[in-house]
Amino acid sequence: MSVMEDPTAEQTPARVRLRFRPEGGEVRVPAGTTVFDGASWNGIAIDSTCGGHGTCKKCRVQILDGTVPVGRLDSRAFTPDELRDGWRLACRAIANEDLEVDVPPMQTRPKAALVGVGRHVILRPAVIKRYLELTEPTMEDQASDLERVLAPIDDFELKVDLGVLRTLGGTLRAADWKVTAVIVDDRLIDVEPGDTTDRRFAIAFDLGTTTVVATLLDLATAQPLAVRSMLNKQQPYGADVISRVSATMMDPTALGRLTGLAHETLNELAQEVCEAAEVAPGEVYEMTLAGNQTMTQLALGIDPEPLSIAPFIVAARTMPPVTAADFGVQIHPRAPAEVFPALGAYVGGDIVAGILATGLTRDKRIRLFIDVGTNSEIALGSAERVVATAAPAGPAFEAASIRCGMRAADGAIESITIADGALKLEVIGDCEPVGMCGSGLVDAVSELVRVGIIDRSGRFIPDADVAEQHPSLARNLVKIGEERVFVLHWRGDDPAQGVFLTQRDVRELQFAKASIATGWTILCGELGIDPSDISQVLLAGSFGSYLTASSAVRIGLVPKLATTRIVAAGNVAGEGAKMVALSHRERSAADAILEEVEYVELSGRADFNDAFIDLLAFPG
Ligand code: FES
Repeated sequence: MSVMEDPTAEQTPARVRLRFRPEGGEVRVPAGTTVFDGASWNGIAIDSTCGGHGTCKKCRVQILDGTVPVGRLDSRAFTPDELRDGWRLACRAIANEDLEVDVPPMQTRPKAALVGVGRHVILRPAVIKRYLELTEPTMEDQASDLERVLAPIDDFELKVDLGVLRTLGGTLRAADWKVTAVIVDDRLIDVEPGDTTDRRFAIAFDLGTTTVVATLLDLATAQPLAVRSMLNKQQPYGADVISRVSATMMDPTALGRLTGLAHETLNELAQEVCEAAEVAPGEVYEMTLAGNQTMTQLALGIDPEPLSIAPFIVAARTMPPVTAADFGVQIHPRAPAEVFPALGAYVGGDIVAGILATGLTRDKRIRLFIDVGTNSEIALGSAERVVATAAPAGPAFEAASIRCGMRAADGAIESITIADGALKLEVIGDCEPVGMCGSGLVDAVSELVRVGIIDRSGRFIPDADVAEQHPSLARNLVKIGEERVFVLHWRGDDPAQGVFLTQRDVRELQFAKASIATGWTILCGELGIDPSDISQVLLAGSFGSYLTASSAVRIGLVPKLATTRIVAAGNVAGEGAKMVALSHRERSAADAILEEVEYVELSGRADFNDAFIDLLAFPG
């Protein structure tokens, strides 16, 4: 349940401050969060062997300042004197006001994992198992099979799926009443013969428009057992979300086919990771999924048309309960699917997952998060306040509209430097170049701006000036037809056969980077800060993570900061999906992001055009 659904929330502040002693960590959390969660979000481990379910009574903390009412379980765990001194069970202590909390040293070591950008996640999956040795029914004891299973699990109020009952009687009797209950959140999804408590798995999916990634996680150890990726099988319907939505608008049968292709992609990956790790698909009890809103709606068979037409409306910011089967993923037949909520049509679940994985809403530093792509998502802020927007950057970064553009695959120029009058190329696969990917494009333009072959307005300088200033590079600036191009790699004497950068390519990149820069400039204005106040820039996604920091600064894609402050954040959407599989506490955190992050719509803003035009030029 989202902490924001707390019925008392109206009377309490939206966020409260938790100060931890003796280590002195401090975190701001939504009111209604437990002390246990607040500590976990801050990377402070509190003793626990039940994972916060209120049964181990190990999560003892002392409230030094502030009030937490005594709960039912507290009175069982502490003496009246201890209760008077402020001792409480952290997993039951709800913070509705600022608190100072003393955390005693650990007696046991919780299993935890470092996930995302330095995020410490205490292992507390929604999937749990209980081994039960039950007594056989007799004429004197005619409790039902289900009552017999539920009786020892009295710390949960479980809902039971009908499918469990279909096999329950047979399983109990064949297993001699020694069985394992499989629980996900508040549902009993299966009863298995024997003791299977050490086998619990989940799959975290990053459902991208281009690439889909699946990670199989061992929920007992937090270890990823297998990772596989493949191109989204929806590719034939277009490279970006707009073309896929358009396909559904032009052909009424396309939605069904796109849904089917998403299912094929997800299921093929699920089977691959299971096979690689020698895990039976039936032992995977949950899937989590982070995707942009269009991909999520298409995969669930929801008409995406309202996403693409003003005023850009999502079907639901938080999806109703869905199962792995709804995504066509053949794992445990009753496995639920945890889908990230969306802030808006163009700031979807993948970005909420990214914000979670980077801890943007928890960190004291002001950080800028950019997921660079056709639609670039931007979030800026700190634990105080976070604002987010989406900037339509066009297809330049995907290299789709670039004459010699290609995906980051073998033969793609991925990095370019100019030193001592010569071009130095780095090519994926160390083979002959056949094109350039997005990071190669950014490097090419950045280097040509740096040496002055492209001026600040984005134009190639006159041939005569190149001949005078850069004689060794003059032969690379040629014309193909009427268009001036800079050849990066020759194949024979005909420039058209080689890999080259056109004047139009430079323009495409200028529009894309100006759009993103306008996004973060407007967000800086919203927060009332100067770009130089930003402590760290996180470049995320399959493209952003590969950008050269110095090139990103030079073309003005990111603020002018020391390159050490610009870091590749990696596949943060996938990391977020892993986090919510490993810790159901992180789900509340993901839900809270919907309330914590303010969405800023760029399209209606009067200052957008002026800022955009100002930012088209390359910085001096
Ligand atoms: Fe076990 Fe609180 S964590 S009782």
